[in-house]
Amino acid sequence: IPVNPFDLVLFGATGDLAQRKILPGLYHRFEVGQMPEEARIIGTARSDMDSDGFRDQIRASMNEFAPAFKKDLLDQFLSRVEYVPVDALGKAGWAELAKILRPDVVRAFYLSVGPNLFSGIAQRLNDHDLATPDSRIVVEKPFGHDLASAKALNEGLRACFEEHQIYRIDHYLGKETVQNLMALRFANSLFEPLWNSTHVDHVQITVAETVGVGGRGAYYDQSGAMRDMIQNHLVQLLCLTAMEPPSKFSPNAVRDEKVKVIEALEPVAQADIARGQYRTDKSGDGYLDHVENPASRTESFIALKAHIGNWRWAGVPFYLRTGKRLRARESEIAVFFRDPPHTIFPNVGPLHGNVLVIRLQPDEGITLRTTIKEPGQGGFRLSDVALDMSFADALGDESQSPDAYERLVMDVIRGDQTLFMRGDEAEAAWAWVDPIVKGWEERGDRPARYDQGSSGPEEALMLMHRDGRRWRQIG
Ligand code: BG6
Repeated sequence: IPVNPFDLVLFGATGDLAQRKILPGLYHRFEVGQMPEEARIIGTARSDMDSDGFRDQIRASMNEFAPAFKKDLLDQFLSRVEYVPVDALGKAGWAELAKILRPDVVRAFYLSVGPNLFSGIAQRLNDHDLATPDSRIVVEKPFGHDLASAKALNEGLRACFEEHQIYRIDHYLGKETVQNLMALRFANSLFEPLWNSTHVDHVQITVAETVGVGGRGAYYDQSGAMRDMIQNHLVQLLCLTAMEPPSKFSPNAVRDEKVKVIEALEPVAQADIARGQYRTDKSGDGYLDHVENPASRTESFIALKAHIGNWRWAGVPFYLRTGKRLRARESEIAVFFRDPPHTIFPNVGPLHGNVLVIRLQPDEGITLRTTIKEPGQGGFRLSDVALDMSFADALGDESQSPDAYERLVMDVIRGDQTLFMRGDEAEAAWAWVDPIVKGWEERGDRPARYDQGSSGPEEALMLMHRDGRRWRQIG
């Protein structure tokens, strides 16, 4: 179903994210017929070029990042694309931008720029009367560096836009399987009665990456895995796993429940945290080779044990783990159910509890570890097998879901904020993260070193062993 006609103004249009994800994503939506005839995309950046120059740049990016495009359709798509050079914090270009925006279509301003520009751009949109009451403003992560900066960003944006106009992106929420988590929990009756501390032993949330910090060293070294991944993506996964059922699938009903989870997160003891930094390998490539500070203590891996202090989850640890340059690219949420209380089968040892694994990427799907009788005549022996559903096998082509960004940009045009972070949510997550980070910064803790291609540092294994538990294997 096509969305309403729109003018999408993309700030930072020549930048990496815009060229790699946002513009190819918009092309795909055009290809599948979701973009109406009257839709227009207006790229802006400081570079002095004309619309043809910008279209050529998009063509080159498509060749590099999304080469499966159809040439005639790309030409049609590009005929809807224009470019206006704008100095985000200066005077140049704003009047030209004002001239080409249409009054009677949805207007969305997408800020694919650093957070230091958010408030300034919002202010100029206001000063030049570009923001109508129905306009939307979209901001990328990172939404601040700590609680104080997130509050300042919220203030800057809210000085010019109402909360219902502000779309804070966390691209994990646009991932199909992440949304499926809500369907799994709230569109089935099987799981919800068991989804609490009476039946769940613990939860493991893993986002393992094989990529390193690459060319992003300057940004990453100021952030580390805690700010770059845990504060946003993993906290969001935790919220969707742990939240109470919202009364309806509406933006505020869902976000109200997520905020309650974040606010119920207990402070994390330093003993419940393992930080790591990947070593230099034989080829001479390591974390420290991509950052300016040769003695950097920033973590590229973190594992921690979180507790949600509420009725449903009291005493159930949520183990979170994420890192770069690990053995495999694998993201999943694994819910470990308690062991059966009593065994009627002699001589089989303790029975294992069921484990429900929601695989976010790659090979999206759901697995339930179950215990069955081993086939054969030789006595009554038990064994673990997986009830395994791969979305690709079960749904065929239907499982070809749009990239997270495509989904999210279309939601902006539709005016649906369900999959975007609300201001109080971002602040609550920082309020939980801040003291944890401050702890190791003040003490000057060094992260443990780990080998590239491993599962992270030994300390992460110990975190689990101490509790008599084990991480699921990565890869
Ligand atoms: C980004 C982080 O938000 O998410 C990156 O800044 C990380 O460091 C990326 O690599 C992971 O996203 P995905 O979609 O590849 O899992």
